[in-house]
Amino acid sequence: MSQFWKPGTEKPRLVDDEEGGVLFFTPSPSFSSGYGYASIEKQRQRLPVYKYRTAILYLVDTHATTIIVGETGSGKTTQIPQYLKEAGWADGGRVIVCTQPRRLAVQSVASRVAEEMGVKLGEEVGYTIRFEDVSNPDVTRVKFLTDGVLLREMMDDPLLTKYSVIMVDEAHERSTSTDILLGLLKKIQRRRPELRLIISSATIEARLMSDFFRRSKKRRDHESDEPGPQVEPAILSVEGRGFNVEINYAEEPAPDYVQAAVSTVLLIHEREPAGDILVFLTGQDDIDAAVQLLTEEVRTNGKKSSGFIVLPLYSGLPRADQELVFSPTPRGKRKVVISTNIAETSLTLEGIVYVVDSGFSKQRFYNPISDIENLVMVPISRASARQRAGRAGRVRPGKCYRLYTEEYFLKHMSDAAIPEIQRSNLVSCIIQLKALGIDNILGFDWPASPSPEAMIRALEVLYSLGVLDDDAKLISPTGFQMAEIPLDPMISKMIIASNQFGCSEEIITIAAVLSIQSIWVSARGIQREMDEAKLRFAAAEGDHVTFLNIYKGFLQSGKSSQWCHKNFINYHSMKKVLEIRGQLKRIAQRIGIALKSCESDVQVVRKAVTAGFFANACRLEAYSHNGMYKTIRGSQEVYIHPSSVLFRVNPKWVIYTSLVSTDKQYMRNVSTIDPSWLMEAAPHFYQQQRPHHLH
Ligand code: CDP
Ligand code: MG
Repeated sequence: MSQFWKPGTEKPRLVDDEEGGVLFFTPSPSFSSGYGYASIEKQRQRLPVYKYRTAILYLVDTHATTIIVGETGSGKTTQIPQYLKEAGWADGGRVIVCTQPRRLAVQSVASRVAEEMGVKLGEEVGYTIRFEDVSNPDVTRVKFLTDGVLLREMMDDPLLTKYSVIMVDEAHERSTSTDILLGLLKKIQRRRPELRLIISSATIEARLMSDFFRRSKKRRDHESDEPGPQVEPAILSVEGRGFNVEINYAEEPAPDYVQAAVSTVLLIHEREPAGDILVFLTGQDDIDAAVQLLTEEVRTNGKKSSGFIVLPLYSGLPRADQELVFSPTPRGKRKVVISTNIAETSLTLEGIVYVVDSGFSKQRFYNPISDIENLVMVPISRASARQRAGRAGRVRPGKCYRLYTEEYFLKHMSDAAIPEIQRSNLVSCIIQLKALGIDNILGFDWPASPSPEAMIRALEVLYSLGVLDDDAKLISPTGFQMAEIPLDPMISKMIIASNQFGCSEEIITIAAVLSIQSIWVSARGIQREMDEAKLRFAAAEGDHVTFLNIYKGFLQSGKSSQWCHKNFINYHSMKKVLEIRGQLKRIAQRIGIALKSCESDVQVVRKAVTAGFFANACRLEAYSHNGMYKTIRGSQEVYIHPSSVLFRVNPKWVIYTSLVSTDKQYMRNVSTIDPSWLMEAAPHFYQQQRPHHLH
């Protein structure tokens, strides 16, 4: 095992101004004594935010918008909603609501707050995430939800009249939904002077937010004389943090961060006292690889590395498996959680003492010129690095091991990530705004404007999907149906189209498979065996029909994990497919789609896929063992990914539903199509724009 830390660097480093002093702090006496044993009330009073309770309540009372900045672990998320409740903001049937960018965080903070308030989750304190509502409109007074869910609630209640205070938490993450929400909340504020907003985060650029809420307050005349809160946003900075987190940097950049992460875990296990480890990698594939390496280590090197419990954590895992990370670690064992950035903010995993940070995450990037969006592995920002380190030190002091050098952190990492809205395809975002009656998308007041090219591209696609009319207004019923489905609009369109093709059962299965990263096991060095396994299910029509074969096989095996193992299929992923499939079935039924199977007529399945993903059609341009394709729409060079069953088959016309970019752009889930289907699916898109391409 290689050595990553220069001898001596394991010693605590002191407060360092360039680091912003963010994670280094000397615990005050009240912090360092007896953590973990105090009563909940005592614990609450110890949190840094407690000293600001009166100030926060005063500011919220007197200002329309309050921006609260405080270090991770200072108590913002769990305490502020309770202070508001105690101060009467939930009296008279009103509700205090707090948004989070991630589902897992919503559930975990809601259950913590319910516990602190001594109430049953789902009653006075509740939560709502996509597909799951654990709240009761009659009794829930403090509610946690994802910002996406709050946006959807606006479709029924555009002014969000139920809510007295809306706290937009973790605003620094700048997810697309957070940004849209901020734009809309600013509008709502003008109509509801009694509404209060709190924008909170650990590392938010408070000025930027404050400028946004102050800027161009075009106050209408009738508003100017109304008594009301101050329009100028208040900014409050909460001083003080959780426990001390000692930062260690790698001496040299690691050539293979998965291997480096695994070695670091083993090193910690060997040298450091008890305490769980949280490792940040980028996605299902590298997490599965790390889990495998660690498991092997335990097997081959029994004694030294015994006592591990290795748990993966990513969004494609079934819920029950995700929840394992919250379960207490048995005595004498060490839990190692290997996660994507879903554990980066908001979560408190109580046993975590050590954090290992690879320095990378997968991010969405969209290029409006080529009209290609993919997930790219990129270095994280300093803000993310601090959040990651902050996952240690929430209930006791901790240590963070960064698998990159200090110089890299200081000189090469960006301060904060680019807001998601500036690097995503906007189709989904525009459909939501349109459904809310915001027609002038270009004139919308964004915290950060998306590019006009991206907007035009999105409007074009929506027009072709049959969702917008000639005046770019949303038309029913397809448009509103699509706005109802909380999925990528192309998947939604595919589901809606399956109704007419009589294959909704099959398409819902495909949609479920597409919403997770991969259903194959990802392990190193077994490529040949995997390829053989794939052949057992491979369909000449491509990957989507292959998914149906696999799903059928899984059901016939009685959902057996051995069957999955034998066929190199990821059992967790298949369970997740079942879970999502169930949710999608309910949605389909709600919007009036009849559940129907096309049995063995798989042509209609591909037609339905085409109805959603027509914009991703490609034609073979150069024959070779892995032929070069060009997208019809942007004439971009793309290739079939080696994991596709159509790799090296090179059919003339294909359609893809996901793309990955490494050295080249690879289409990952691919089906053969007949080009005439494109005309049927999107006549405007293909006939009027580029007729010569379809011959
Ligand atoms: O939002 P912020 O990062 O400021 O802090 P928080 O999520 O409100 O959590 C504040 C503190 O409450 C954590 O640092 C933990 O000490 C404690 N907490 C906990 O012990 N268990 C939880 N499930 C949640 C919070
Ligand atoms: Mg928080």
